Amino acid sequence: MDGWPDLFLPLRFLEPVMEMFDRIVAGEKSICVIGLGYVGLPLALEFARKYRVVGFDINARRVEMMRNGEDPSRELPASEFEGRNITFTNQLDDIRECGVYIVAVPTPINDAKEPDLIPLQKSSETVGRVISAGDYVVYESTTYPGCTEEDCVPIIEQISGLKSVQDFKVGYSPERINPGDKERPLTKILKIVSGCDAESLDNLSKLYGSIIEAGIHRAPTIKVAEAAKIVENTQRDVNISLMNELSLIFDKMGVNTYDVIEAAGTKWNFHRYFPGLVGGHCIGVDPYYLLHKAEALGFHPRVIAAGRFTNDMMAAHIAKIAVQKLIKRERNVKSSRIAILGATFKEDVSDIRNSKIVDIVNELKSYEVNVEVFDPHADSEELQHEYGFSLTNELGSDYDGIILAVSHREYRNLPESWFSEKLKADGFLLDLKGIYRDKLEGLDYWSL
Ligand SMILES: NC(=O)c1ccc[n+]([C@@H]2O[C@H](COP(=O)([O-])OP(=O)(O)OC[C@H]3O[C@@H](n4cnc5c(N)ncnc54)[C@H](O)[C@@H]3O)[C@@H](O)[C@H]2O)c1
Repeated sequence: MDGWPDLFLPLRFLEPVMEMFDRIVAGEKSICVIGLGYVGLPLALEFARKYRVVGFDINARRVEMMRNGEDPSRELPASEFEGRNITFTNQLDDIRECGVYIVAVPTPINDAKEPDLIPLQKSSETVGRVISAGDYVVYESTTYPGCTEEDCVPIIEQISGLKSVQDFKVGYSPERINPGDKERPLTKILKIVSGCDAESLDNLSKLYGSIIEAGIHRAPTIKVAEAAKIVENTQRDVNISLMNELSLIFDKMGVNTYDVIEAAGTKWNFHRYFPGLVGGHCIGVDPYYLLHKAEALGFHPRVIAAGRFTNDMMAAHIAKIAVQKLIKRERNVKSSRIAILGATFKEDVSDIRNSKIVDIVNELKSYEVNVEVFDPHADSEELQHEYGFSLTNELGSDYDGIILAVSHREYRNLPESWFSEKLKADGFLLDLKGIYRDKLEGLDYWSL
């Protein structure tokens, strides 16, 4: 009998090793989503329809709100929390037993427009403290190619003492949601998935594939997946900058850029992009991550940098147009009043982060113009806290000019009488989105 155990030793290696996806399906391991903002919370709640999920966030106030079924980002209704297998926490001990850690923390830029990796570094430290052999970590935050493997994974390795690929698996799967777009929720957008090896790619594709109806694209490497996301937003930024540059040129010719785009758009291979402010935390930020990485490698991109420069100067250009119109009317700029419609970074959302409307307000204030800002979606206290101005409650009358800055649904179908009631007899409208082009007859109308 003594010989039996030795005899059967090789059979131990034939026992099926349960893969991570199966362990999640079996409820043996849970998924932890780290960073529960615009990206992390919907993802956590979606996984929680099928699996056991722990939502982790460092912000105790936000955690408390989510425990009460409230989305701190004001995107999801309370019904989205109902019946989900999820707990919310800011305690490390509550996430130690998880098997998959998905990181969705912010990736902002600092004042010098350089990547601010602190949230990614801190959340990697968190993962390093709780991760066990066999676990998975997936990054969803938008970042430059190489960031996951060169900047984040070494932190996890150092703190945990484990080795990536060998002891734990790493993946990257960028989020592609379009803020405010109710037609394309998370599950309806094809998801790019990548892994550090074939096994992780397979497990992560199965895991994401089980909640994403639109399907999965398996990227060959983590760097390709990182690059794909940043290129999507950089392409958009550069294309918009071209339209902005054209708008600066055509303005000098008295030609409306929207008219030009409409005419040029009749050609089958013309791509329709429109001039405008590029704010928010994605399109106006992500190209700086790519610029940073390219420069670190000794290459100085001209096109991407020029696009950023052009888009960033548009707010000052718009303020200049407004002041020129005041001066042409021989108004005392210091006693003139301008109403700005919209404060958020884009239409139909409440998000004010990196809103370029703030730049228009500051630019006009630098000329000492009196500015009143209106927005049915934005939070006045948040604006005051972040940018030092609040919203005006009710639109008055006798404004020298109105700047229709954000095309919220409330501003899209107003009759001409609405504008003339609010404006002085010779008041002007700067319609940044070109919504009222060809629709108003008696107003001094300008669009980008
Ligand atoms: N918002 C979008 O529409 C969108 C779309 C695609 C990609 N992204 C990218 O997704 C990432 C997340 O963006 P977001 O808009 O969801 O950010 P967000 O600011 O809405 O939320 C981030 C959350 O992370 C938390 N957090 C910060 N540091 C943390 C840490 N160390 N540990 C745990 N939690 C932490 C914050 O408290 C907050 O709740 C960014 O890289 C962004 O570029 C965003």
